[in-house]
Amino acid sequence: MQAKRVVEKTTRVDLNAPLDSAIPWLADPDIRPYVFMRKENLFAQPGSYTQCGWFSQEAIYRNPLHMKSVDFADQILMLESKAFQSSAMPMPRWVFYDCSIMPGFVCGFARKTSSLPKSHRSNIGYNEKLDWTPISLFIIIPTVRPGEWVAHNLCTANSLVEKSDQLYSLGFLTKAFGLWYAGVETLCGFSQWQSPSIRLHSHYGSFEVLTAYTPVHSHARTLTYRSKINGLYWPTFFTQDGDQLNSRYTPTGFEVDPTNDDSLKSLQTRIEQEEGPFYLNPHEIRTQPLDASLKIYRLKS
Ligand SMILES: CC(C)(COP(=O)(O)OP(=O)(O)OC[C@H]1O[C@@H](n2cnc3c(N)ncnc32)[C@H](O)[C@@H]1OP(=O)(O)O)[C@@H](O)C(=O)NCCC(=O)NCCS
Repeated sequence: MQAKRVVEKTTRVDLNAPLDSAIPWLADPDIRPYVFMRKENLFAQPGSYTQCGWFSQEAIYRNPLHMKSVDFADQILMLESKAFQSSAMPMPRWVFYDCSIMPGFVCGFARKTSSLPKSHRSNIGYNEKLDWTPISLFIIIPTVRPGEWVAHNLCTANSLVEKSDQLYSLGFLTKAFGLWYAGVETLCGFSQWQSPSIRLHSHYGSFEVLTAYTPVHSHARTLTYRSKINGLYWPTFFTQDGDQLNSRYTPTGFEVDPTNDDSLKSLQTRIEQEEGPFYLNPHEIRTQPLDASLKIYRLKS
């Protein structure tokens, strides 16, 4: 099942209909979403905020507080540590427990261990005792503001396996599944400016810049964003016709250069002086090089 980059422009992607014809792996019975959440935290009505017809396969449930789930947790951590190896930001095991499993929601996609591609087995590792092996991970933690969550972690096996074994949009759909399942209304998150992941993060709703320069983080060139989750944005990830969203934004007349500290600090100063809120345009983020300057917008009310 080869990774397909862009879904044909002529393909209609409807948020309320199955996505299987555009993304065939979603219908593969050997690949299913998983929920790794302590039982007391489970949602009464999963999927109640954003109506979405993309996730028809039942999620596999594992209770992280049960001893027998430790092998599944080990595989999540194995995937995570390899995915974040190059950025030197792997998650310590205790952070996974204290800051993810206990307060939050851990989910992703899993694949039948018997159907894992060879490159997954050799490059990431596997445990023959497990029926299902996690191939992606998304973690969100609730904040003190009702309806607002923080995205703590997103990773997939795609960057670690052979190209022919990659599943196109696994990262995007892992995050979409988590947002849909948890009924997230508002999501804050972080990304390093110029990280390719910013192309995914900007496709779930309006993309407000909360901080442009963040010296309190280990990486000062961190962008903190806040998205008001909006299903209008989701299909444009596949069709790349996000220019239809342009009418929602008004340019402020200034730009930010993600490669330049002074430019990031200048935007940060405007934010601190409460001149915002300021937004980035998902279509520009997706279609421009990662080091290109980005226009800063206000959202039309
Ligand atoms: C970032 C990450 C989650 C993306 O997941 P993925 O499964 O590879 O990505 P998807 O297939 O869902 O999406 C691919 C799209 O994302 C963007 N993208 C993802 N990785 C990219 C890369 N290395 N270079 C350029 N664009 C990339 C592109 O827009 C691409 O779509 P396009 O080819 O149609 O333009 C994954 O690469 C990963 O685990 N990276 C390491 C951990 C990490 O940096 N996590 C993000 C923390 S904020």
